[in-house]
Amino acid sequence: MKALVIYDSMYGNTEELAKEIGRALGSGAKVVKAGFARVEDVTSSHLVIIGSPTQGGRQTPGIKAFVDELPVEAFKDKRFAAFDTRFKNVFAKIFGYAAPRIESAIRDKGGNTTAQPQGFFVKGTKGPLLEGELERAATWAKSIAAGLPTSQMPGDYEVKRKEK
Ligand SMILES: Cc1cc2nc3c(=O)[nH]c(=O)nc-3n(C[C@H](O)[C@H](O)[C@H](O)COP(=O)(O)O)c2cc1C
Repeated sequence: MKALVIYDSMYGNTEELAKEIGRALGSGAKVVKAGFARVEDVTSSHLVIIGSPTQGGRQTPGIKAFVDELPVEAFKDKRFAAFDTRFKNVFAKIFGYAAPRIESAIRDKGGNTTAQPQGFFVKGTKGPLLEGELERAATWAKSIAAGLPTSQMPGDYEVKRKEK
């Protein structure tokens, strides 16, 4: 399976996660920053994972433009998944997050997303990632590659919160 991870990042945290996800997917995975990704990178892949920092409740303009500009054919016969980095507080929740918006843009273009959009937490605007997030990202990526359900993963923040 040929996998592609496309990301954007202002302070390096989403980039760190993208690289970890790429490693988890195995040696065939390509990890590319949004401005450098080509349509051919997408069309030649079976699994495409797209990640963005949440900024103002949404994905970066670079990620939005990349998805919006992909031709409809690029969405055929492949699996997509979206992740973001975000704050872990109630105020951030009000504005929404990047990953669900990326997912809905993919679906609007006829793309098939098989995994729950996933958010990974940063401590502050510049990071760092909260402890355990890199490992959680690797688990998430491996579950996607294996075709396992990702809605209730071990260590999932949403699941943990409901258990309390
Ligand atoms: C202009 C700006 C707006 C932001 N807005 C949000 C937001 O609405 N919700 C949120 O959870 N985090 C927000 N953040 C924090 C980002 O999620 C954080 O900077 C990002 O996860 C860091 O990833 P990066 O190192 O890849 O840039 C914002 C950050 C910036 C710079």
